[in-house]
Parts: sequence; C-alpha cells; structure tokens
Amino acid sequence: MIEINYTNHYFNLSREKLLEVLKNKLSNFRFNHVLRVEKKALELATRYQYENIEQVSIAALVHDYAKEFDDELFINKIKDKALDPDLLNWGNMIWHGVVGAEFIHDDLKITDEDILNAVRHHTVGATYMTLLDKIIYMADYIEDGRDFPEVAKVREITFKNIDEGVAWQTLHTIEYLLNKKVPIYPQTINTYNVWVAKK
Ligand SMILES: [Fe+2]
Ligand SMILES: [Fe+2]
Repeated sequence: MIEINYTNHYFNLSREKLLEVLKNKLSNFRFNHVLRVEKKALELATRYQYENIEQVSIAALVHDYAKEFDDELFINKIKDKALDPDLLNWGNMIWHGVVGAEFIHDDLKITDEDILNAVRHHTVGATYMTLLDKIIYMADYIEDGRDFPEVAKVREITFKNIDEGVAWQTLHTIEYLLNKKVPIYPQTINTYNVWVAKK
C-alpha cells in the first residue's frame, strides 16, 4: 500500500481521488500497469535520491491517462491547441504522450511542466531529459509486469546507472521499429542520437 500525501501544489485532489479518476478512464489492465509504474518509479526515485516523490507519483499515475482515448479526440486537440501539424501524421503511440500531456493539463488541471514533460517524453524520450523524465521513461519499461526476454538485465542496468537504462531502451525501441519497417518519430531518432550513438 503506497501512502503519499499530496500537498495540492501539483494536483488539487488526494492520491486516492486521482486513482478514482483514473479507474474511470482506463481499462483494468492499464490501471494496474499505471500502479506498477508508480511503484517502480518510486523505487527509482529512492535509488537516485529524487526527493519530490509527489511529482514522481503523479507523473507515473497520469502518464498513460490518454492511452485509451479515441483518435478523434487527439486530432481535435492537435487542431484546437494549434500543436505541430505534423502530429496529425502519427498515431496513438506518439499522441498519448505528446498530446496526452495537453489532456492532463486541460482535464486534470495539472500545470507543472516537469510532470507534463515527463508524460510528453515517456515514449519518445528527449535529447535533454530531467531525472524525473528518466525515472518515468524507465519505470514504464521495466515495471514488474513487463516480461520481455532481457527485462531482468535492463532492470539491473537501470538501477546501476539510469542513463545506461535510457540508452538501452532507446536502442531497442529503434531496433524494434526498424525491424517492423514502420516510420520512426523524429524525436525518437533525436533521442537515439544523443543517448545511444557513439560520438
Ligand atoms: Fe504510454
Ligand atoms: Fe505506460
């Protein structure tokens, strides 16, 4: 049982209320994933002495807030908020983070840019990533429900050196996308160039 008292600085409801909101938005499968991401993110915060655990908890809990939204909602949001029109060429995988942050801002009234950026960066990474960004990026990838072949190794790497975890995930995401011969979102390539490519 995780007990964190939210100060109302980042979010005007208690953690319990936020969980209720999320339970109504997400399938059970995704809701449980989100709880596991929070657990892993808090472990990483302890390991790397990130003291603002309220920010970690909120960012983890809301990171997939928009994951199950219909495409039309994203398309309208991109147009209404005059976001980069290139976003219209992508889909849910990219939208739920990059555009999802806008829903979190507008629906949940979370205005903290650190939290919003952690959501924006959680699938595509970024050339510059804060420790909070890295924690959410990695917690999403190595939460206890993940069971891809090398997950134990990535967990170990991530707890040893989180930057190496970021590099590992970014490389494997790029490899996966290349093998599937699908388009790669430019920011994912930018992330690769900074975190993986040898200089
Ligand atoms: Fe996600
Ligand atoms: Fe996720």
